[in-house]
Amino acid sequence: MRTDTAPTVTKLSDYTPPNFKIESVYLDFDLDPKNTVVRSTLKVSRLAAGPLTLDGDEISLKSVKLDGRLLKRSDYKLTQAHLIIDDLPNHFTLEIENSCNPAANSTLMGLYVSGGRFCTQCEAEGFRRITYYPDRPDVLSVFTVRVQAPLKDYPHLLANGNMIDSGSIDGGKTHFAVWEDPFPKPAYLFALVAGQFDLLEDSFTTMSGREIPLTIYVDPGDAHRAEYAMDSLIRSMKWDEEAFGREYDLARFMIVAVRDFNFGAMENKGLNIFNSALLLADGESATDMNFERIESVVAHEYFHNWTGNRITCRDWFQLCLKEGFTVFRDQEFSADQRGAAVQRIKDVRALRGRQFPEDAGPLAHPVRPNQYVKIDNFYTATIYEKGAELIRMLKTLLGAEAFRKGCDHYFETLDGTAATVEQFIASFEASSGKDLSQFMRWYEQAGTPHIKVTRTRSSESNVSVDVITFEQKTLPTPGQKTKKPVVLPIKWQAIGDDGPIGEAQLTVLDAAQTHVSLPLAGKEYSLSILQDFSAPAILHTDQTTEDALRLMANDPNAFNRWEAGQSLARKLMGSLTKAIESGKMPEPDTALRGYARALKHTLLDAEFDNNFKALALTIPSNMDVMQSLPQSDPIAVNLAGDWLNRAISDESKTDLIETYHALKDEGPFDPGAAAAGRRALKNRCLNLLASRQDAIAAPLAISQFNAATNMTDELSALLTLDKLGGRRVDQSMEDFYVKWKANPLVIDKWFAVQAGRKHPSGVDAIEQLTKHDAYDPRNPNRVRALLGSFAMSNPHLFHDASGAGYNFFTEQVLDMDSRNPSVAARLLGVYEIWRKLDTARQDQIKAQLRRVIKSKPSKNVLEIASKTLG
Ligand code: TRP
Ligand code: ZN
Repeated sequence: MRTDTAPTVTKLSDYTPPNFKIESVYLDFDLDPKNTVVRSTLKVSRLAAGPLTLDGDEISLKSVKLDGRLLKRSDYKLTQAHLIIDDLPNHFTLEIENSCNPAANSTLMGLYVSGGRFCTQCEAEGFRRITYYPDRPDVLSVFTVRVQAPLKDYPHLLANGNMIDSGSIDGGKTHFAVWEDPFPKPAYLFALVAGQFDLLEDSFTTMSGREIPLTIYVDPGDAHRAEYAMDSLIRSMKWDEEAFGREYDLARFMIVAVRDFNFGAMENKGLNIFNSALLLADGESATDMNFERIESVVAHEYFHNWTGNRITCRDWFQLCLKEGFTVFRDQEFSADQRGAAVQRIKDVRALRGRQFPEDAGPLAHPVRPNQYVKIDNFYTATIYEKGAELIRMLKTLLGAEAFRKGCDHYFETLDGTAATVEQFIASFEASSGKDLSQFMRWYEQAGTPHIKVTRTRSSESNVSVDVITFEQKTLPTPGQKTKKPVVLPIKWQAIGDDGPIGEAQLTVLDAAQTHVSLPLAGKEYSLSILQDFSAPAILHTDQTTEDALRLMANDPNAFNRWEAGQSLARKLMGSLTKAIESGKMPEPDTALRGYARALKHTLLDAEFDNNFKALALTIPSNMDVMQSLPQSDPIAVNLAGDWLNRAISDESKTDLIETYHALKDEGPFDPGAAAAGRRALKNRCLNLLASRQDAIAAPLAISQFNAATNMTDELSALLTLDKLGGRRVDQSMEDFYVKWKANPLVIDKWFAVQAGRKHPSGVDAIEQLTKHDAYDPRNPNRVRALLGSFAMSNPHLFHDASGAGYNFFTEQVLDMDSRNPSVAARLLGVYEIWRKLDTARQDQIKAQLRRVIKSKPSKNVLEIASKTLG
């Protein structure tokens, strides 16, 4: 859709409840790829005065009947986006017939065809591309759906709920199924699927003893690849009963895997639809990271059944109500499945890598935004990941018991409704008796708070007492100049050379500053602050290298033990970057040597598990480092990382080799956390050894590549070979391609690896990949594999000083925009970091953004481009 006029803005303050209640919906689909006919029968009752406004987008209206009477064209108003009917009685039946063209639907919103199968994506505003309907989350109704299609091409016909009828017509050429979902739901949770599938079946017996058949529908031949997803589903169902007391409600649960999908997965009631990349895995073709993601996304979508579906959102401004809470729930699930400290480290790494940059850049917005142009642009790290952090803080502030009571209260009192963040918070006020009005600021105020901690030695009578001062400050964000103090739960502890001195404490900083006295008469200690990352904030302390090293060795809080190393590494990378930018070769100093030596102790310490060691031996991301600097040359940041890795490897060379060999052997594949940790540390050792660019790593990588029986090892070896360079790399890349060309999910990995390489021919090599036979610009996974990886993992070419990388990327985004605006807009988001770059690159990106705006892009892309430019 092209727009010439200024796009309309939707505001939270403009919310008005609907004029009509939809008592029930009956939908009848006659499926045909080019011309699907939809007949909708709505039983409607009036709630307030005014017209009935139905949304519609790119569908053709055939007829409208009111209580059986065909309406004339003059009886209603039909615009590009609405069907409006005035002068309606208090109770009536509306029958609408319309058609749509699923085969031509390249947006992957509404009803579309993927790999010859019909599927739907209705969140957030896709249902209006299927039929005219009040497509807003506060209109809940019970749906009955009849689906009809040719039997041969579409043997499976699925919709939400329970199948209540099926049969054949046309002497068996056509068949139908009727599905009924007894739970009232908004249109965004509607789903329909039709096509040929293989099935993986299992069952789960709920806490009240009901046996629920579970079915995963996949492309023919893929059923064994859904086994891990099925196992994850069963564990999720059990966990939700134990951790939150939530039982599954329908008589069956289905998941469908599709190849073409805009995001990860979708929680449609009783019929989740997944991007196949987040569902299918086996040891040979999927990495441990894939398994981990599948486990957490399967859990996430399942958990939405209560947090999102049984209780949904009043309007899209309340998106974090379901997303933040559900991410928190899936994080807690993963922590229980795989270990709390390691999970917390990974979640915080992701938060710093994606959400902190968003919160500090031109696209910063509150966890509950107050306006938007396209809601699809607000499925952001802030809504999801920061949203989850707010729930975590709530639990920390209230304690586990009161938190659980508040959740129970929320589920009991708001079941079946479309709720607001205020109602959610009120549940916790009711259960805990606490006033949470200041906590609401977290939902309203954008920007990551900075916490400054200073320690002053003072003297009180004859005991020496240290005073610790905690201060907070949030910087201005677009549209929000002044910021108020938020409620910051700060978990901290004093750590001496023999371990902690006293218990961990919780200081709640809810004003600009607060003081705490610590009577530690002359003892030597360091402060471990923000243990478990108890608040999503940026910490500034007077921590010295000695403090960091003391915490790396003695902090009982595993998260902060890791964090001590990270903060030291972040500082080191900052100064290395500065040195590289000014053309100096950095010199190893005491901080660097101390850090490398501390990592060596971590590597050799039998007390730590392999997953933790692998994370400790991983330096902060380039993005994380760039956030800590006012401006930087992204290529210099990357070189600083290479340099730091080499220094780590120099210090521990022999131990890295020994560890590698000790962990090398693979038995039969086991996707569990312990086996994955062993592979993670082994491959971390190999990769660190490769940073030395000497003769050690190459033979190890070559034999690992040739002998690998799982994708984690195979891909790590390939990436290591690429890092080492040389003639053999191209051959290995080619071998990998030939071996895997029948598996699209592995070919996505191949594209991602190609997109991240420092090709000698520069950006042209990436452009050539868009002409590769296997490249498909209509498939979001493939596009993200190439363009997303290029922008995120190829600093050398994406940030090429000539601007060629930006130029190529912009062209591709505009091309994508002509097919799929929401994926295009998301890709364009990578430019949000432009203010953190050097001025030459800033100018180049600004020029790209102006070019995007001039090209009359979709509303999605226009919103992101103009906000990014500021
Ligand atoms: N609700 C989905 C989730 O978080 C997200 C999602 C899937 C989505 N597909 C989408 C959001 C399409 C917007 C558009 O699990
Ligand atoms: Zn979700």
